[in-house]
Amino acid sequence: SFQQQNPQGLKRLPGPRGYPLIGNMMEVGRNPHLSLTQMSRKYGDVMQIRIGTKPVLVLSGLDTIRQALVKQGEDFMGRPDLYSFRNVADGESLAFSTDSGEVWKARRKLAQNALKVFSVSPSPTTSSTCLLEEHISREAVQLIRKLLQLMTEQGSFDPYRYMVISVVNVICAMCFGKRYSHNNQELLRIVNMTEEFLEVTASGNPADFIPVLQYLPSRSLKKFKEFNYRFLSYLQKMVKEHYETFEKDNIRDITDSLIEEAKKVEANADIQLPEGKIVNLVNDIFGAGFDSVTTALSWSLMYLVSYPDIQKRIQEELDQNIGRERRPRLSDRSILPYTEAFILEMFRYSSFLPFTIPHCTTRDTILNGYYIPKDLCVFINQWQVNHDEKLWKDPSTFNPERFLNAEGTEVNKTDGEKVLVFGLGKRRCIGESIARWEIFLFLTTLLQQLEFNICDGKKVDMTPHYGLTMKHTRCEHFQVKQRFPMKSSQ
Ligand code: HEM
Repeated sequence: SFQQQNPQGLKRLPGPRGYPLIGNMMEVGRNPHLSLTQMSRKYGDVMQIRIGTKPVLVLSGLDTIRQALVKQGEDFMGRPDLYSFRNVADGESLAFSTDSGEVWKARRKLAQNALKVFSVSPSPTTSSTCLLEEHISREAVQLIRKLLQLMTEQGSFDPYRYMVISVVNVICAMCFGKRYSHNNQELLRIVNMTEEFLEVTASGNPADFIPVLQYLPSRSLKKFKEFNYRFLSYLQKMVKEHYETFEKDNIRDITDSLIEEAKKVEANADIQLPEGKIVNLVNDIFGAGFDSVTTALSWSLMYLVSYPDIQKRIQEELDQNIGRERRPRLSDRSILPYTEAFILEMFRYSSFLPFTIPHCTTRDTILNGYYIPKDLCVFINQWQVNHDEKLWKDPSTFNPERFLNAEGTEVNKTDGEKVLVFGLGKRRCIGESIARWEIFLFLTTLLQQLEFNICDGKKVDMTPHYGLTMKHTRCEHFQVKQRFPMKSSQ
């Protein structure tokens, strides 16, 4: 039978049989999050598939994923050697390279520290709580102006095109101390090329598993390489400018603080962690920092226009708890439980990061009684957890209230933690708190002043397109109305 015993006397991994050469590619299909969720019902939380000729371990179920990524974190913290990953940041990416040893650990820590200093630390110059609040608040106000201007000029717009610039400006301010206009061509070209990146780096991209595909002409691979090249060139230009104007007593932004660290390492002749490897951390911070947050905001707007009652309820909560005299602040998060519940439900329902970045085992191990060999590629099905009937009542209904207590006054913390979008354990996202704050403050600042809807007679298409992050089709039929006259101080 298929379930033979392996040499160590443990059960062999269950999974579908598959065909020669292509393995289970047909069954996995174009929406792996759905097909692998379906398969997990039959084979369980720990199963093995084959893509091409390569075996892949697929993990489902919150308990199983916690067991692997948290309790057995060291065993599962590797990254597989995939063709597409070798193209990211010249193979030196913190997130995508195969390194999970001491150098990766040291780099991750440096990136985390630099991020913290230029986001949630107190702002030295203004009355804002922190630099992050200052950047987001400024960008959100600009965005409101821009959307109102578009309404007068065109009567409707595609919000994604404008939100992406606002979000890029937040991460740009932290990384490089500068912002861009909504018409900057250099930046627009880069931020509008992410689709190819997300398609190619998604779990289950065929070219990663069937080597011959890497040599065949492919439009998306070509665009993917072009994106990586442009992105890297742009960032290298910024880093060079920073080196040229660097002053050790005036650390302006994340790039400066990484240069400072790099110089320290250089002084100690630490060959383990070369200078270049520190500075190029800015690639990962910048790259991971804008696309995911923009996608989250974009899905949020789709739900707000699809469920106008939910939008109204958020606005009522804002009116009651903040009023109209001042803008929302980060510290308001705890007094806006319905808004918080909406954001959690947006994460859960969209599960727009359906799988984490693929993992790989760092040694032979055992999970749920199954023998798992070293260097096995692992997919973590976050979508499955967020739609698991065992965890959620009516998982296919969009309902923020599932996270609230009966009085609607508090978010249930345990339920909130069941939503899996940032991964878990050693590879957990390092931008999680920044991302959550950012989504909160953009949404509340926008919704305090604007009501969103879709032009009469038009519909939004909410079908997700599979990728590392899943997006919906862009929609040009958004409209906004100002909810009350804006004060000049705003
Ligand atoms: C990794 C989600 C925003 C920086 C990840 C991973 C996920 C994720 C699922 C992979 C975890 C794994 O492989 O197990 C998200 C979501 C975001 C977001 C849903 C927004 C809603 C950000 C932001 C930053 C960031 C704003 C930086 C400013 C990173 C980095 C990694 C990472 C550097 C790689 C960590 C490593 O491999 O050690 N993120 N992220 N992310 N994220 Fe995020």
